[in-house]
Amino acid sequence: MEEERLVELAHKARENAYAPYSNSKVGAALLTQSGHVYLGCNVENRSYPLGVCAERSAVSAAVSAGERDFTVIVISSENSPPVSPCGGCRQVLFEFSRHIKVIMVNDRGEKRVRVLSELLPEPYGGQDA
Ligand code: THU
Repeated sequence: MEEERLVELAHKARENAYAPYSNSKVGAALLTQSGHVYLGCNVENRSYPLGVCAERSAVSAAVSAGERDFTVIVISSENSPPVSPCGGCRQVLFEFSRHIKVIMVNDRGEKRVRVLSELLPEPYGGQDA
């Protein structure tokens, strides 16, 4: 899968974001080792702590479909610089794919690329085999 296509899909996923409380829409496109893509968006709730981030929503979709091996996640936001995944989502990504590439983008064409270990250098459970 071309990175450009994955970016388009993340932008598209953002259109479904339900973010009436923060007004910050986020979309995610998660590429699996097998070549499938799972999309996610943030889904907020009037009871704020119940809201779910776009990244976790994409991971849930993928795991629910039987996929656990992820290679790339693109995170699309309207922010400048582009939104970086929250600490909780970093740990959730680490659970499945320690070496995932994280690409953060916005509509202005701004892009940052990191590997998860840069974003989460000392993960909980990182010493486990
Ligand atoms: N959000 C995400 O979806 N992903 C992130 O990595 C950071 C934050 C969402 C959560 C909330 O719905 C909104 O952005 C504002 O924090």
